[in-house]
Amino acid sequence: MKQNFTVVPVLFKKRLTLSAKMFYGFFKMGKAWVSPKRNYNYNHTKNLSLVYMKLTPSCNLHCVMCGQYGVKGVMKHIAAEESKKILNLDDYKRLVDEIAPQRPVVYLWGGEPFLYPDIVPLVRYMVQKGLFVSVNTNGTMIEKYAEDIVRDKWSTIFVSLDGFRDTNDAMRGKGSYDRVVAGFRALNREKEKQKQHEPILGVVTTVTNMNYMDLDKLAEASREFNLDIHILNLGTYTNDHIVAAQRKLMKEKFDTDIDCLEGYNTGYNQGIDAEKLNLILENIHGKDYGHPMLTVPVLNTKKIHTYYNYLETPVRNHCIVPWCQTNINYNGDVHFCADYPDYILGNIRQQSFTDIYNGERANYFRKTIHSCKGGMFPGCLRCYQNMLFGKKIRGY
Ligand SMILES: C[S@@+](CC[C@H](N)C(=O)[O-])C[C@H]1O[C@@H](n2cnc3c(N)ncnc32)[C@H](O)[C@@H]1O
Ligand code: SF4
Repeated sequence: MKQNFTVVPVLFKKRLTLSAKMFYGFFKMGKAWVSPKRNYNYNHTKNLSLVYMKLTPSCNLHCVMCGQYGVKGVMKHIAAEESKKILNLDDYKRLVDEIAPQRPVVYLWGGEPFLYPDIVPLVRYMVQKGLFVSVNTNGTMIEKYAEDIVRDKWSTIFVSLDGFRDTNDAMRGKGSYDRVVAGFRALNREKEKQKQHEPILGVVTTVTNMNYMDLDKLAEASREFNLDIHILNLGTYTNDHIVAAQRKLMKEKFDTDIDCLEGYNTGYNQGIDAEKLNLILENIHGKDYGHPMLTVPVLNTKKIHTYYNYLETPVRNHCIVPWCQTNINYNGDVHFCADYPDYILGNIRQQSFTDIYNGERANYFRKTIHSCKGGMFPGCLRCYQNMLFGKKIRGY
């Protein structure tokens, strides 16, 4: 999958200003790699490059492989109660005022971010403050908001689509494919009407045993979407053994239980014929769809079998997330790991973000993960953030 690297110049050519903003974020991540890992008096907000904000625990879909709402989803039964705790617009504005000088990329997700009642004024405020704002959505509500999105110049929208119509709908719910495509049409219409280039439009596909044979069909269909990028995410998966090891470690080192990792113990990695998937990916990466294709993680194609079948074999290590990224949960809790919000660093309703990010709990987490084998915990195996921002292990 060497073709992945062609993404950078293509994106720059297509969207110079936005790409420059995005790559400034990556530059700061690079700085975090070389910053002193053991200096616990360091002001880590200087390297803050990516801030995830999980706006809401609510979702209108129940995608099968989802750690929150899928077959093993941990939010399924508590989302309604939890949704009463969401931050309000003023909480977010205070946070944005605090972090904006560091110019991090902001990544809004959920649940479904369009269910956050003030998403439009919130993104408008962020964009006005000069932030690069990326929204990850299931796309089923884009049609309704297309005019606002284009008018307010949202930076990027990543829409989740997991296959051509029938395959996608089997994973994400009946009718979801057509609603997403209607959203793309509405966005493209608005861009033309308002003579705007923003937002950058991307599709994210999570690869499972239900859709891998259908990836090329989706890639073909996506020619009509006027995309800027299509990301194939090899997926977050875990098993009983990894969950038990992570639970033990979190109890011993952090005196906390874990719940979210189990949500990815779904088995949707099982039965993927690595040789077939390899050929499918090579075929896709060899074609020109009018937009770049990116597979995450970038993997030695011969090792795809390991990725899906030997979950305990690391393909990335030395996670950089605690030194340059963070996740703000819907209730104001601050974490490092977006998908595994077990260890709370603090809450922005009670403390400034800077104090939390440089505080004792944050530094204790950094110190602990740094001292673990490979600079990661058992639960980091196949974590999406580690796949994106971990260090590539030789051979993978
Ligand atoms: C949890 S969703 C939240 C945003 C929004 N609801 C959506 O579906 O795009 C964020 C992303 O995680 C992806 N995802 C779901 N299950 C996953 C898994 N097991 N491994 C990796 N990514 C997964 C979704 O497809 C989506 O692209
Ligand atoms: S739409 Fe997103 S959050 Fe909702 S179930 Fe699907 S992947 Fe999970």
